[in-house]
Amino acid sequence: MAYKVLNNVSLKDVSTSGLASLKTDLLVLVINNNTKTNKSFKDLNKISKNYISKTIQTHLKDAGSSVLIPKLNNINASNILLVKGKDPNQPTHKWLSMYQSIAHKGNQLKAKDISVMPGNVTPKGKNEMWLIEMVAKTIESNVYIFSETVNKTAKKPSVKKLNILVSGLSKSELNNAKQAAKKGYAIGEGVNTAKYLGDLPANHCTPKIIERKVKAMTKDFPKLKVKTFNENQMQKMGMGSFLSVSRGSEEPARMMVIEYKGGKSSEKPIALVGKGVTFDTGGVSIKPSPGMDEMKWDMCGAATVFGVMSMLARLNANVNVVGVMGCAENMCSSKATKPGDVVTSMSGQTIEILNTDAEGRLILADCLTYVGKYKPSYVIDMATLTGAVVIALGRHASGVMANDQNLADMIIESGEESGDRAWQLPLWDEHQSCTKTKYADLANIGGGREAGTIHAAAFLSKFTNEYKWAHIDIAATASYSTPVKAGTGRPVPLISELLLSKRLK
Ligand code: BES
Ligand code: MN
Ligand code: ZN
Repeated sequence: MAYKVLNNVSLKDVSTSGLASLKTDLLVLVINNNTKTNKSFKDLNKISKNYISKTIQTHLKDAGSSVLIPKLNNINASNILLVKGKDPNQPTHKWLSMYQSIAHKGNQLKAKDISVMPGNVTPKGKNEMWLIEMVAKTIESNVYIFSETVNKTAKKPSVKKLNILVSGLSKSELNNAKQAAKKGYAIGEGVNTAKYLGDLPANHCTPKIIERKVKAMTKDFPKLKVKTFNENQMQKMGMGSFLSVSRGSEEPARMMVIEYKGGKSSEKPIALVGKGVTFDTGGVSIKPSPGMDEMKWDMCGAATVFGVMSMLARLNANVNVVGVMGCAENMCSSKATKPGDVVTSMSGQTIEILNTDAEGRLILADCLTYVGKYKPSYVIDMATLTGAVVIALGRHASGVMANDQNLADMIIESGEESGDRAWQLPLWDEHQSCTKTKYADLANIGGGREAGTIHAAAFLSKFTNEYKWAHIDIAATASYSTPVKAGTGRPVPLISELLLSKRLK
């Protein structure tokens, strides 16, 4: 299962053909200080009898602001959108918000194709290739509209084609530009895959359904090797912690392991582990009803693994990565795990489950132990783990905690680069005290109301002694809460940047 929205992203050099003859539903010109001197722009402006430059002067004041011009004589585009470009000092995520609104405008106008001239003003330290990658990534992932379970009133994305307009590139530059567009498009597709799996209602996205989709993905991408584990197999491996979560549900748990080998065979893989709770009622420690529907996005860590693995295969990336998706439904029933129950994890450590709503860490504990067998160079887990991270950081940044500072630094840097930001919280020895209990080696909660996000990470750290590890809490970033209610596809852009840039050595 690959999830593309655009059928096609292409590049066009308009320095010879000109802009006026371009047949497109929506021509987008990003206006910067040096646009005036761009030949294609000057020609187009002349044909418009200076209407375009006058409109810019009177209407485009603040960076990111835009104005829509309907059809003009002698210009083939059905609509022209003028957007005032960002300042080179602005960080990546501000640039992306500009491209995001272009995508939304395209759907709003029911345009079938968008042609964007991004211009050649870039943020400091970036080049035009970077701009092209960001345009492709952001347009692909923002023309997305979820409609699968909407029958009669479904809104579908109208935009099917993106044309990125460049001028005066040499042959080799044009080649690089094509690569950049391809990369952005593939990351955007990965983002959409994660959004789609998240947006699917929980009854349309059980662990078994996800397993089917993972298997279907390997048909699209034969380079991905998949192993799936059912409850019996997990039982045999001693995954008592993981299985305590699915006990109360009719839906059996699944663990999916996806291997991608694009690097040297001697190179140790980077491991990604994702929490895939397809619905989190809280179990016997049941959650309050308002907003509980949002717990269908509790599998966004696993969805990120899915999206990233498909992106790697699409790009034939030269890295070795193993992705683990821990999928289960957390329900309450007469069979469900009860507060105070003690289970044995794959690591041998026993766990007293004092709160069945702290289930994500129980799944991750066994997945993290399992992935140790790959002798990974780095392990990164992603999980919608704590409500506390929403309070600590708000919705703009994911929370990072790590046992290796270099890994944490590289994650934060990749977040800045991709516009999918993350911020670190400490994980100190002092935070470990919370996991003490009389009845088992560990308790699954502790610390009371203090530093809930860090205490969850402290629990995970009991299973990650063997390797360099970081935990990314995405509870605040993987989806928008009421009133928007939608998956964001995060942190696919961050992880894609981290892996493709080869920052981790
Ligand atoms: N899936 C939730 C965390 C969550 C909360 C995700 C809000 C997205 C939005 C997780 O399983 C959970 O319930 N965590 C508890 C932990 C507590 C019992 C220690 C929480 O945050 O309340
Ligand atoms: Mn929970
Ligand atoms: Zn949860």
